[in-house]
Amino acid sequence: MSGLRIVALAVFVGWCSALIAVSAQGAPAQAGGDQQTRGKALYVDKCSACHQETLKGTTETPPLSGDMFWMNWETYSANNLFVQVKATMPEDNPGGLQPQEYADIIAYILKFNEVPMTGDLTTDTDALKKVIIKKKE
Ligand code: HEC
Repeated sequence: MSGLRIVALAVFVGWCSALIAVSAQGAPAQAGGDQQTRGKALYVDKCSACHQETLKGTTETPPLSGDMFWMNWETYSANNLFVQVKATMPEDNPGGLQPQEYADIIAYILKFNEVPMTGDLTTDTDALKKVIIKKKE
């Protein structure tokens, strides 16, 4: 290998590791991360087989969006939804998820329906009660 090629290679390798360093910095934290991303991934994994990825439901499974969602949940709080889902869902394994996983999924469902909220949902009952399920103005 000629000297020039070694230098070129060294420059290239240096450039690559700089690039990797930059993208590692910009990437969202793995665990933790943002609640929407976690909630969506959990929803797709644990709920979408029945409720569909579109949250539209099927003939056997109610939708978690649209008119039916508003009819059943408007004016209730995130806590009502959290308690019911935790007690009854996934239908084939009720209560089978961690409480925070339920909170992440509820946050995803509420955001999907454009319910106004600030910050992440936690499993704290009082905090969940403060999030009222209402339509975006
Ligand atoms: C095996 C199929 C199945 C899975 C998986 C499942 N569900 Fe359901 N879900 C149903 C059925 C059927 C109903 C209607 C009967 C009932 O309410 O128990 C329902 C009802 C609901 C309701 C009440 C809807 C309403 O407006 O009355 C919510 C909310 C809900 N599911 C959320 C979830 C969430 C969140 C998950 C994932 C953690 C999930 N479900 C996973 C089948 C399923």
